Amino acid sequence: MQRKSKYILGIIVLLSIFLVVYLAYPLLLKTGGGNQSRVVLGTYNLPEVQISGGMSVDQAIQSRRSVRSFSSTPLTLQDVSQLLWAAQGITDSERSYRSTPSAGHVFPMEVYLVASDSGVKDLEAGIYHYNPYNNTLEKIVEGDQTSNLSMAAHGQKWVDQAPVSLVVTGNYQKMRDKYPDKNLSTRFVDIEAGHIGENIYLEAVSRGLGTVAIGSFYDDQMISLLKLPSNETPIYIFPVGYQAS
Ligand SMILES: Cc1cc2nc3c(=O)[nH]c(=O)nc-3n(C[C@H](O)[C@H](O)[C@H](O)COP(=O)(O)O)c2cc1C
Repeated sequence: MQRKSKYILGIIVLLSIFLVVYLAYPLLLKTGGGNQSRVVLGTYNLPEVQISGGMSVDQAIQSRRSVRSFSSTPLTLQDVSQLLWAAQGITDSERSYRSTPSAGHVFPMEVYLVASDSGVKDLEAGIYHYNPYNNTLEKIVEGDQTSNLSMAAHGQKWVDQAPVSLVVTGNYQKMRDKYPDKNLSTRFVDIEAGHIGENIYLEAVSRGLGTVAIGSFYDDQMISLLKLPSNETPIYIFPVGYQAS
């Protein structure tokens, strides 16, 4: 009888463990980046991207300049949607190809939005992961983190001043899974970050906004601030806003 009770207890414990794992699993949402996972606090739809309008590519290239002084004028959700789409949006839904080229169509890049208090109309302050597959923002961190981001960026004050920043990360291992040569795969990811950066610059210019590429930051602070999955490395920060007059 006692042995039977122990047996039943063992089964209950095993079933409980199974239940906990089963219930916790959806929290670690897969977000379209190989084996990456993030704890998502909430999901927010972005407005549909508008393809027509804006200035010509030639005009945007001619006008592009790094901006390091921002006004407090907030961005709209449409601005945010366009900037993220330019960075990594899906432009071929059949094959899930994106706005920037990717070596071997590996797509190892991710983009995050850091929104300040009142930085974006109708969006709470926080850090969000951009999910290009369904055009949503996935909240990762609550609250205004812009001064923490600025501190991580060696105290560059324009990061603190900008209403939003886009952060570009790369998954070097994902590229290496396809291209085992370390130098080659590393180069591919770094080059992809450059493509994304130029798209962000040009999209910002065409919307009357400004940005600056930030490559100087403490990796460890960025990783902990953005709660990055272990396979993601921060590569670039782009504070975006209206230039202060
Ligand atoms: C890889 C890279 C890293 C950069 N890092 C920073 C940075 O940390 N802080 C900054 O203020 N500007 C940074 N810049 C911006 C350059 O200083 C800027 O592009 C340069 O002064 C030329 O000015 P322009 O962009 O207006 O043509 C970076 C640019 C690149 C390409």
